[in-house]
Amino acid sequence: MQMARIVVIGSTNTDMVVRSARIPVPGETVTGGTFLLNPGGKGANQAVACARLGGDTMFVAKVGDDAFGRETGPRLAADGIDARLITDPSEASGVALILVDGEGRNCISVAPGANATLMPSDLEPLRSEIERAAALVMQLETPIETVAWAARVAHDAGVAVVLNPAPAAELPADLYARIDWITPNETEATLLTGVAVADAASAKNAAAVLHSRGVKGVVVTLGAQGAFWSAGGLCGSVPACPVAAVDTVAAGDTFNGAFAVALTEGKPVADAVAFAVKAASIAVTRPGAQASVPRRSEIDI
Ligand code: ATP
Ligand code: RIB
Repeated sequence: MQMARIVVIGSTNTDMVVRSARIPVPGETVTGGTFLLNPGGKGANQAVACARLGGDTMFVAKVGDDAFGRETGPRLAADGIDARLITDPSEASGVALILVDGEGRNCISVAPGANATLMPSDLEPLRSEIERAAALVMQLETPIETVAWAARVAHDAGVAVVLNPAPAAELPADLYARIDWITPNETEATLLTGVAVADAASAKNAAAVLHSRGVKGVVVTLGAQGAFWSAGGLCGSVPACPVAAVDTVAAGDTFNGAFAVALTEGKPVADAVAFAVKAASIAVTRPGAQASVPRRSEIDI
């Protein structure tokens, strides 16, 4: 029996990253940067975080019949992930073009390719695996109908549903009541609720809106301010660890993977958020997406 298995459904991308002093404005060329090609995609990043931080992890995604797609499975397996990759021969594997500036800030443009064709019919053969999981973790780089389908399957089976609503997008009204934990960043929380989220106080107001729609638990990540959580009538904040951030790509993904692991280990929410903050603070000190995700041995709280 797989009592503590975490199923992650989502995107896998190859990230092409140029790091330079600053990010160009439209029409401008900035030269002198350095290039890094590395694995990414919010789904894959979160699966890697789950696995490296101690979770028994299954990952479901769609790739193209190309070099990027073919190298994805073995790489994830090397991280101990049970990767169930579905090949779409009519699409390219997902790619993200990422610019990082000298202060570690980024902008990202994604060509989703095969990620955009992951449909409920692809997941139907995996229904029983989802139903047996301890937690289902998803993001919004795959079609919303697929996210909604999987959330319904998991919720009906009593599986904890963790939704990282990234990149920012509106959600169907009936999805909220099937979410155990929603984990927006400030931008996403603002878009979802209409509350301008910039700190713990405003995150609390946004959380109230999300609860009123049926979400049980809310965690708002606040970048260098850490994270705010609200659940079961209680709430709290965890400050970020003071670190020198060089690249925040996948900070949120590391946070989500860590949070899911801690939840499935039975940690109280405040401890789970603290664990996730610690993991994410390590990720921001390193370049790259999956390359930056820490291992459990690095987090000792
Ligand atoms: P991403 O950059 O991956 O898109 P995000 O926008 O989803 O991240 P953030 O809220 O920016 O999510 O960051 C997630 C977590 O990472 C924060 O809750 C915090 O714990 C940690 N973090 C982010 N930036 C910093 C920083 N500058 N210093 C320390 N910790 C940070
Ligand atoms: O969250 C970071 C990820 O977003 C990157 O790895 C990139 O692939 C984009 O999907």
